[in-house]
Amino acid sequence: MIPSVNNNAEGSKKNGSETFSKHQYVDIHCHCLPAVDDGPATMPDALALCLALVDDEITTVIATPHQLGRFNSCNEAVQIREAVSVLNEELKSNGIPLTVMPGGDIRVDERICQLLEADKILTLADGGKYILLELPHQNFIDIEPLLIELSSLGIQTIISHPERHYILAKQPKILRKWLKHSTHLQVTTSSLLGEFGSMARETAWHFLSSGLAVLVATDSHDLNSRRPCMKTAFERISIKLSRAIARVVCIENPSRVLKGRDIIPTNNV
Ligand SMILES: [Fe+2]
Repeated sequence: MIPSVNNNAEGSKKNGSETFSKHQYVDIHCHCLPAVDDGPATMPDALALCLALVDDEITTVIATPHQLGRFNSCNEAVQIREAVSVLNEELKSNGIPLTVMPGGDIRVDERICQLLEADKILTLADGGKYILLELPHQNFIDIEPLLIELSSLGIQTIISHPERHYILAKQPKILRKWLKHSTHLQVTTSSLLGEFGSMARETAWHFLSSGLAVLVATDSHDLNSRRPCMKTAFERISIKLSRAIARVVCIENPSRVLKGRDIIPTNNV
């Protein structure tokens, strides 16, 4: 059965003394396109993941298939836009209330600015304002020159799941240096819930509580170990930090990325 969607962004209903809120989350990082990367292998698998996103109260998702790195020779912007269009048609014909926008989870590469100008890789929601960058998992690279170059083009960088990188977890001063160049940090819901181990969990909470990270996304790939869990993460952040911070990192800022508006800090929330 397809879940219904509340039309109020912060709609709520009272049941006895409890208040239950239904949100409309935007997920800015998700591998939901079929047969393009390590996300769903088939269209039915992709639709099943999209239903799980709807169940997680996500109404708009930016599809961010891997670009560059081991997907260097495939997943060009034109192919991703077409795959998003096909998935949106399938969602519509199956009555699944989810909108998919094009984007990419782009592996750090010295050609990035050139490839953006050649329309080979994508900014988030194809909006030209934010790019989602994935660092190499095994090696450390100081990407400050790339961040400066992107910033000079008017593009702001969002670094995906820095909490999973050993060097950054141990030396957040590197991140503080990067953040001076129109750069933002996105932590992953599963990291907050401990599914990537204790180092990623503790680092993700530290980044959020210190105001270093201002965005949360699912980075979901499937219905197993990497399923969407935005609702649970929102509730945990509300309890451990505050509901106001949960709203900024899970709702307000992702929505701003979608619309190409400036992200807001959490320090004064
Ligand atoms: Fe990803």
